[in-house]
Amino acid sequence: MIKMKQKRLILILVLIAIGINFLFARSANTPRLGQEVTPEEVAARDISIFPDGEGLPEGEGSVPEGEKIYRAECMICHGKNGFGHTADQLAGAEMSLTGEYPEKTIGNYWPYATTLFDFIRRSKPMNAPGSLTNNKVYALTAYLLYLNELINKDEKMTALTLPMVEMPNQDGFINIYEMETTHQ
Ligand code: HEC
Repeated sequence: MIKMKQKRLILILVLIAIGINFLFARSANTPRLGQEVTPEEVAARDISIFPDGEGLPEGEGSVPEGEKIYRAECMICHGKNGFGHTADQLAGAEMSLTGEYPEKTIGNYWPYATTLFDFIRRSKPMNAPGSLTNNKVYALTAYLLYLNELINKDEKMTALTLPMVEMPNQDGFINIYEMETTHQ
């Protein structure tokens, strides 16, 4: 009787061992890292714009167009003319960065105008990121640069004109890798 029981126990243990082995072998073949991404999915996320404008898409936008979109999509959080509401102040700094109570805006802080396009396209409006067309993003970029007195009202923003906008604080950053002021 005991022998029979022992035999059965050994058989069960062997089966369990085979089962565990099988599971490990399977998980080794399939690490379950998720689904393979398609080229289209990669392209949809590959939208970085570089400081010199590399990556900027076709399209254009004007200051008056941008003002309309701003009023509809952005003003509720950022306030009329880019300040005075709950979200970050985007324009109209009265105190400089070196003042007692520095007001950080696009005009006095951001080093590259092209980053504004990238930022708005990938993350704005906050409640519907990625919903704006390239033309709308160019228009909003133009309007915000205009509010910061960096371009005139009649200037259009495109892949050619946007990288040419000079930002006042471009040289105000420290390159932490070289520990020196950048002049790129
Ligand atoms: C629901 C509120 C909300 C709406 C709508 C919204 N924003 Fe914002 N925005 C924020 C908040 C909060 C921040 C600060 C946090 C962050 O950077 O995401 C911010 C940050 C920003 C910044 C960066 C400011 C800085 O100097 O770091 C920009 C530029 C900007 N928003 C532009 C826009 C534009 C353009 C729109 C309209 C298309 C818009 N926002 C709509 C809430 C909002």
